Amino acid sequence: MHEPNPAAAAREGGDDDAMREVIWHDLECGAYDADLPLWRALAAAEGGPVLDLGAGTGRVALDLAAAGFEVVALDREQVFLDALDARAEIAGVGERIETVAGDARTFELGERRFPLILAPMQTVQLFGGPDGRGAFLRSVRRHLAPGGLMAAALADALEGFDAEHTEPPLPDIVELDGWVYVSQPLAVRPGDDGTAIERIRQWVSPDGRREAEGDTIVLDVLTADQLTAEGVAAGLRDAGRTSVEQTEEHVGSEVVLLRG
Ligand SMILES: C[S@@+](CC[C@H](N)C(=O)[O-])C[C@H]1O[C@@H](n2cnc3c(N)ncnc32)[C@H](O)[C@@H]1O
Repeated sequence: MHEPNPAAAAREGGDDDAMREVIWHDLECGAYDADLPLWRALAAAEGGPVLDLGAGTGRVALDLAAAGFEVVALDREQVFLDALDARAEIAGVGERIETVAGDARTFELGERRFPLILAPMQTVQLFGGPDGRGAFLRSVRRHLAPGGLMAAALADALEGFDAEHTEPPLPDIVELDGWVYVSQPLAVRPGDDGTAIERIRQWVSPDGRREAEGDTIVLDVLTADQLTAEGVAAGLRDAGRTSVEQTEEHVGSEVVLLRG
């Protein structure tokens, strides 16, 4: 699940910060798999190539490629795409995955059109509010094949932090090459600009030195109705919605469907 090879490759490249970014991304997102059957089913129904926006280190793209689909994986973090490329080679699916560094709000892939565009795992809540989402939806419209489908997952970040859940969430922990990495969710704070998710990330070297840093991401507050309305305003058609069930470790998500 937490593939050590790209991390080791990044370390050999001498960039410890890049290596750690990949490790934190894998640790905090990589174990989630409740949504994979949905993306596979949509790809089977709509066909490829699939455009995976905010692909990260390839959790979804690699799964789709392993199932036989061609995938274009776009992310703004080159270090994630480098890890994705390395994993695709190791998995023997390198020929089916193309990585593209770019911004999901303003990407431009020329004349290419896709029957299916995915934005898994709340990526659509990272675009900095309605203006960023509007740009994203217009870019999606330009890149959808006629009648093609876009599916974007949404989550309520506050869902796991309520009166029913009084214990803090368990930390995510992994040991790689004698180093231990721990990411502990601390708080989820609603705010005017979105919901801030605060974590502390700690790493301990094989000889016991510990370092730590804080990390905060802000998820835009966004309902499925709002995203659908914004999609329609951008020239897409409301194609309903579906959902991914909550698991013991992850909140559920609503998935907004829009057609070109
Ligand atoms: C929550 S992660 C999801 C990663 C992957 N799709 C998955 O499901 O495991 C969000 C990803 O979106 C990327 N991202 C955030 N804002 C972006 C933007 N404006 N353009 C491109 N990628 C973006 C981040 O770098 C990160 O890899």
